[in-house]
Amino acid sequence: MFLEETIDAGRLVLTFADALDLAEPVLRKHHQRVAYIVLRMCNTGKFTSENVRTFYTAALFHDIGAFSLKEKKALKTFEFLDVNRHAEIGYLLLKDMFWLTKESSIIRYHHRTWEEWKKSKRKLTEDVVLGSQLINLADYVDRLLNINQCVLHQSSKIIDEIISLSGNYFHKYVVDLFMEDATKEEFWLNLVAGDLTEFLFAENPLKDVNINFNLLVALSELFRNVIDFRSRFTATHSVGVSVAASIIGEILGFSKREVAMLEVAGNLHDIGKLVIPDFILEKPSKLEEKEYRLMIKHVFYTYYILRSVKGLELITRWASFHHERLDGSGYPFHLNGDEIDIGARILMVADLFTALAEKRPYRDGMKANEVVSFLQQMADKGKIDANIVAIVINHYREIYTKVSESQKRALKNYDLKFASKDF
Ligand SMILES: [Fe+2]
Ligand SMILES: [Fe+2]
Ligand SMILES: [Fe+2]
Repeated sequence: MFLEETIDAGRLVLTFADALDLAEPVLRKHHQRVAYIVLRMCNTGKFTSENVRTFYTAALFHDIGAFSLKEKKALKTFEFLDVNRHAEIGYLLLKDMFWLTKESSIIRYHHRTWEEWKKSKRKLTEDVVLGSQLINLADYVDRLLNINQCVLHQSSKIIDEIISLSGNYFHKYVVDLFMEDATKEEFWLNLVAGDLTEFLFAENPLKDVNINFNLLVALSELFRNVIDFRSRFTATHSVGVSVAASIIGEILGFSKREVAMLEVAGNLHDIGKLVIPDFILEKPSKLEEKEYRLMIKHVFYTYYILRSVKGLELITRWASFHHERLDGSGYPFHLNGDEIDIGARILMVADLFTALAEKRPYRDGMKANEVVSFLQQMADKGKIDANIVAIVINHYREIYTKVSESQKRALKNYDLKFASKDF
């Protein structure tokens, strides 16, 4: 029923990397600029295409472990408190994804200096050492760069500082690779050109790689963790929505692939929350009107982030319409019932069900009868799909048990890997 084409890996990875930097103007495009610098150094170094793909992907995700805005901003400037924390979390997020294992180790060490590598007797010929040194240098350059000033007024100062760190902070060979291009104005102008995304998209080493559906599911789980783990309060929300949506799909007779699409849409439905400030997500009481207006933005950004990925059109709609209502009273598109297909209707109900049943900072989870009467009232008013609500009511125990089991597992995983860990 819902066949989609193969998914463009290059665009998907670029899009996700961009989402990591959307929260603050000072962060904008940080990951893409670092990936650009790494790519230019790779071209000079003439590395194998497999290595280029690995280094480029690691660069695009290198700060994925910095969850809070405060930490992200501190890393972009030089006021960081502990550079190992986000590197270690990034490693933990990626290490179990079999096709990103090497990237995970590179990310783990992307702040390690050459001096430290030398002490542990590691050589630059090892991929992990080389990759992490490339990212370390590229990241350093971007931290020195003031995006609001003319780049050509800053380039010689940046070059001088990088050269002064050659041999101790960075291996001399890595500095040489950088210097090959750093003397060209074109290198710097491209770095800050408005269409860096398009430049990377045209040049990117993942250009001909297509992602199969299993990899998409795995990547959506990675991003689900990045979205949910920003706060202990939301640590299990998307996993709950994902499980609820896929069970409803199964009951409705969706094919295996369509159920997996619902799962992906559930994992990514709140990806736009990456633009929402931490204090709003963590607020222990109900949001004020002004804060609520800020919060509303998240679902537009879910759409904004996902819309450019070829092959993801349907999932984008399912994920982005979860706050629409069939009578047109939802947001941000104010769509009407006939514009909202079955997948999006499922996501709407799955999101409401999960949100009502789970504990929030300002209230406990609602009891079954309360959830049921809330959903029924919404259906009676013509806001959400009555058939889907009937399914939830008829299978309440099954859905509730599976959702809460998956949320318990996710919380355990979160606590085990992140919350209690002292890096
Ligand atoms: Fe970093
Ligand atoms: Fe960084
Ligand atoms: Fe939402």
